[in-house]
Amino acid sequence: MKIKLRPLQAEEPEEVYQMFQEIPAEEDGFENPAQGLSREEFSDFCRRHVGYSRGENLKPGYVPNTYFLLWSDGRLAGFAKMRHYLNDFLLNHGGHIGYGIRPSCRGNGYGNVILTEVLKKAKAIGIERALLTIRDYNIRSRKVCEFNGGKLEKIVPQEKWGECFYWIDL
Ligand SMILES: CC(C)(COP(=O)(O)OP(=O)(O)OC[C@H]1O[C@@H](n2cnc3c(N)ncnc32)[C@H](O)[C@@H]1OP(=O)(O)O)[C@@H](O)C(=O)NCCC(=O)NCCS
Repeated sequence: MKIKLRPLQAEEPEEVYQMFQEIPAEEDGFENPAQGLSREEFSDFCRRHVGYSRGENLKPGYVPNTYFLLWSDGRLAGFAKMRHYLNDFLLNHGGHIGYGIRPSCRGNGYGNVILTEVLKKAKAIGIERALLTIRDYNIRSRKVCEFNGGKLEKIVPQEKWGECFYWIDL
């Protein structure tokens, strides 16, 4: 499998826009804020997020966050988000890393691959332990996390599910 992971850029081609349109706006706790945007709005989204990745123009309470795109054997398979550090909110909701594989590419091992690749980026910016929070019923994502060394610390009961807190030592 030929793998490429790179950060989102200020200008992205149509294939990237199409991938963001294929992934639902929200699924099992993973949010895709670019779903439903027009092409023009998406360009604006990309520019803004490149800024957030550099810590520029962050909304109050937000930390620097980088979006990454995964290509596998030439096919754009999904995207991930990496928060550069945790604040109180992220410590309780969301953690460092989130990932989504486009529905047409699922079940091929790309979930495992995207997390492996993003963890290398996390280590490179000095994150020593990465936190992932995953709903208890999201078995596929829990497998992805455990495949990558995730250790379950606790499951915090919510109204409709339990939130699993996994830590990965880097
Ligand atoms: C979670 C997600 C990223 C997994 O991506 P994927 O490419 O389908 O995952 P993989 O093919 O790498 O499979 C991961 C594991 O799940 C297993 N799996 C795949 N489909 C499954 C299913 N329907 N039920 C149970 N296990 C399943 C695979 O066997 C694999 O386990 P293994 O390594 O022990 O064999 C993808 O389903 C997704 O984008 N979901 C929506 C967003 C989301 O939930 N993100 C995570 C939020 S914390």
